[in-house]
Amino acid sequence: MRNPFIYDLVMAPFERTVLAAWRRHAFADAQGVVLEIGGGTGCTLPHYRQVERVVLTDPSVLMLRRSASRASRVRFAVDTVAADGMRLPFGAASFDTIVISLALCSVPEPERALREIRRVLRPDGELRLLEHIRVDRPVVASIQDRLTPGWRRLSDGCHLNRPTIAIAERCGFRVDTIRYGMGGWLVAARLRPDPTHT
Ligand SMILES: C[S@@+](CC[C@H](N)C(=O)[O-])C[C@H]1O[C@@H](n2cnc3c(N)ncnc32)[C@H](O)[C@@H]1O
Repeated sequence: MRNPFIYDLVMAPFERTVLAAWRRHAFADAQGVVLEIGGGTGCTLPHYRQVERVVLTDPSVLMLRRSASRASRVRFAVDTVAADGMRLPFGAASFDTIVISLALCSVPEPERALREIRRVLRPDGELRLLEHIRVDRPVVASIQDRLTPGWRRLSDGCHLNRPTIAIAERCGFRVDTIRYGMGGWLVAARLRPDPTHT
């Protein structure tokens, strides 16, 4: 996303009516040292209740800059780091929890990001996703397929038709809990590294 002000403005009604409750459900009890990937303007920050520290990353410095006012209103430390989710500048097993909210849809190669997440997440850590995904109904999915090329151009690379949970499973994560909303379009999932995955 290139313009953080426009992002917050456009998202505000959806944030109020739908997303805030989903963020609370998905992230309120996230624990320990948290890495957020594609954290943007920091919309998730007000919803954490139990974290020790959050490292908020995004490739867009402009988005991160706008997160500062939200970061100043929370009780835990927030460090911002400009970083691409496909090349994380952190050592192995550095984080207790990794959070991605509405960002895997925009990462050019989600498989690469998920491999990086596996590397920097502790083996007993948790990945929490809040994403819109490909709907498991052929008619809706084909509409998503047709809309995606135009939507990608309008929205800086967002894909409407990614089967993100299936991709995460292929990349070595096992779903612990999952909740669907909006006819299967929105999903909140908690996943853990699958120790049997090679
Ligand atoms: C729709 S916004 C979501 C922002 C925030 N997570 C939220 O929930 O409001 C998508 C974010 O993904 C980021 N993004 C795009 N490509 C990325 C990449 N390769 N790695 C990590 N984040 C990326 C964008 O800069 C943008 O901030």
